[in-house]
Amino acid sequence: MTRFAGKRILITGAGSGIGREAARRLAAEGAELVLVGRRLDYLKDTLPEARHVALDHADERAVAGFSNLCPELDGMFLNAGHLIPGSVQGTSVEAFDEVMALNLRGPWLMAHYLGDRLRDGASVVLTGSNIGLRAIPESAAYSVAKAGVHMLAKVLALEWAPRRIRCNAIAPGPVHTAMVEARLRSGGDPEGDLARLGAVNPLKRLGTEAEVAALALHLLSDEAGWTTGAVIPVDGGAEAVY
Ligand SMILES: NC(=O)c1ccc[n+]([C@@H]2O[C@H](COP(=O)([O-])OP(=O)(O)OC[C@H]3O[C@@H](n4cnc5c(N)ncnc54)[C@H](OP(=O)(O)O)[C@@H]3O)[C@@H](O)[C@H]2O)c1
Repeated sequence: MTRFAGKRILITGAGSGIGREAARRLAAEGAELVLVGRRLDYLKDTLPEARHVALDHADERAVAGFSNLCPELDGMFLNAGHLIPGSVQGTSVEAFDEVMALNLRGPWLMAHYLGDRLRDGASVVLTGSNIGLRAIPESAAYSVAKAGVHMLAKVLALEWAPRRIRCNAIAPGPVHTAMVEARLRSGGDPEGDLARLGAVNPLKRLGTEAEVAALALHLLSDEAGWTTGAVIPVDGGAEAVY
């Protein structure tokens, strides 16, 4: 397939996990890519031939500066984020601020400063989380931030509709990426916790980077031309379970 021939797409968090998988798939389908993350070497490992931008998406000066250099875009996959576990009372205010910066301020700043770089008819996809839809213990700040990401996608869908720019959020369940590995290692029973993560959805397994990236690519492509303002779970059916 060459759904993205002639399209320029920016991806945050492109140096690993879901973002790396999406980048490689988009390149295979003809996209020209702008890869964003804090670690330049990871971005180069994803796709040596892409444009690489070492940037903290929560740093306003950095994002504003980049917006002056950024070429016109046909799409953005605002995917970077990170989980810091904890309950409301068990999360320090500093950690709360950090989670908000990593997960909500980042995509907000990217949309704020790069909205003018989007061509009319572009598509934007934000990575939320299925735990921004369903409450679970010990992920309080992250869940609240991701719920904000879902609403940001809806608000942008409304604001950008006159330019025919679509904006959607995906809400993945657990995928065994670096982020989840860090969470597992912070507990006392990584293997047991991994098995439990996979057991909560009807399909009884974790998802893969490829399965999540496939949904992002669909939403970025013109074949999703009438889908905007949606928050779509990709979680083995977990969202369907009471
Ligand atoms: N894996 C899951 O189970 C799961 C489930 C639901 C949602 N998600 C979401 O999916 C997205 C991708 O995560 P992943 O699972 O693929 O984990 P990952 O492999 O850890 O990827 C996260 C990426 O985000 C980048 N990043 C983090 N903070 C950043 C910042 N301040 N500025 C720019 N880039 C930043 C990281 O690169 P640098 O460190 O080099 O900046 C990294 O490449 C995240 O938003 C995550 O919350 C994941």
